[in-house]
Amino acid sequence: MNFELSEEQKMIRDAARDYAQRELITDVIERDYKAEYPTKHIKALSELGFMGMMVDPAYEGGGMDTVSYVLAIEEVSKVDASVSVIMSVNNSLVCYGIQKYGTEAQKKKYLPDLATGRKIGAFLLSEPEAGSDATMQRTTAEDKGDHYLLNGTKNWITNAHSGSVYLVIAQTHPEKKHHGINAFIVDKDTPGISLGPHEDKMGMRSSDTHSVMFTDVKVPKENRIGEDGFGFKFAMKALEAGRIGIAAQALGLASGALERSIQYAKERKAFGTQIANHQAIAFKIADMAVKVENARNLCLKAAWNKDNGRPFVIEGSMAKQYCADIAMQVTTEAVQIHGGYGYVKEYHVERLMREAKLTQIYEGTSEVQKIVISRNLLRD
Ligand code: CAA
Repeated sequence: MNFELSEEQKMIRDAARDYAQRELITDVIERDYKAEYPTKHIKALSELGFMGMMVDPAYEGGGMDTVSYVLAIEEVSKVDASVSVIMSVNNSLVCYGIQKYGTEAQKKKYLPDLATGRKIGAFLLSEPEAGSDATMQRTTAEDKGDHYLLNGTKNWITNAHSGSVYLVIAQTHPEKKHHGINAFIVDKDTPGISLGPHEDKMGMRSSDTHSVMFTDVKVPKENRIGEDGFGFKFAMKALEAGRIGIAAQALGLASGALERSIQYAKERKAFGTQIANHQAIAFKIADMAVKVENARNLCLKAAWNKDNGRPFVIEGSMAKQYCADIAMQVTTEAVQIHGGYGYVKEYHVERLMREAKLTQIYEGTSEVQKIVISRNLLRD
């Protein structure tokens, strides 16, 4: 078994680390406080090729593997998970979904702009009454012959404002339940689309999250992805890949908190010595490091399986659930190690803790991941 990264993978990881540690760090506290969208950083990361990392170069993508993607997302998330969620939704939900299931015409029309960050994508599945139970889609897509007419509301949509290409999941044949659902590529400037206010979130405050309302929105038939009724399966397939990105994000929050805790424990003195010399702190660091190492291995295994054409649904959900849960634990311990300093913004760990909470909720709660894992294991 070879755990060594390739030279290319190391270069990609180092480029992401370098940008995060030199540039993102400079204004992350202020952007979090003001809930300000990271426009200049998304532009710079687009220029570095981080918005369409796994897209085929034929469509202006980076042609990189999923392992490289995990490495990059981890490094960015150590510093700024608002930026990494924008990257993650664009890369592994939107670009992945179109590249894998779109027609050649859809790929040619949409992928080059998305892969280069000239346009940003959003994934519109969640609704006021369809969160974990994604089959309960109330947004309708009425078949009108040469087009569909969309009506309804989507909730908690990352990139809703900054994004201009929407992947929308909607119900066409309610009598067929989830087999009647379709997925569409929708240009945000289509008449009839409006946004709710910016959600004032606990963490990941500088990514833009809004509800999106559709009122008689005309979508050309050629914008449907796959056969009639493929939409629910499409959403599940996109989420399979997307969960690896959020797992990597949670991993980065945990590993970032661990790195900061190690540094702080070596600097801070109490009871006549560095706090690292007290077992109460040293053992916390050891426990955090074991969790981070396990999380990284799960994440990389899921990514490697995907890159090598092996099944990755169980592995992706295991990675998502475990990384998110340990991110919450590790960041909470990091605040504890920092004491009072951990509770103020300057030391970053309180923000990492707030951000970790979201990784247990979006792209499928930890409980949803357990449903996916157990159903796949227990199926006859
Ligand atoms: N691939 C293909 N098909 C799949 C599939 C997969 N991975 N998973 C499920 N399906 C199919 C099943 O085979 C089944 O098909 P048939 O009826 O033809 O047999 C169908 O889908 C329904 O499956 P289940 O009975 O398992 O569905 P369920 O409703 O009981 O549970 C669930 C499924 C896993 C809970 C699912 O609803 C789910 O993943 N929910 C969470 C949704 C989610 O992650 N939302 C996050 C929104 S996106 C987001 O957060 C992005 C962002 O902005 C950051």
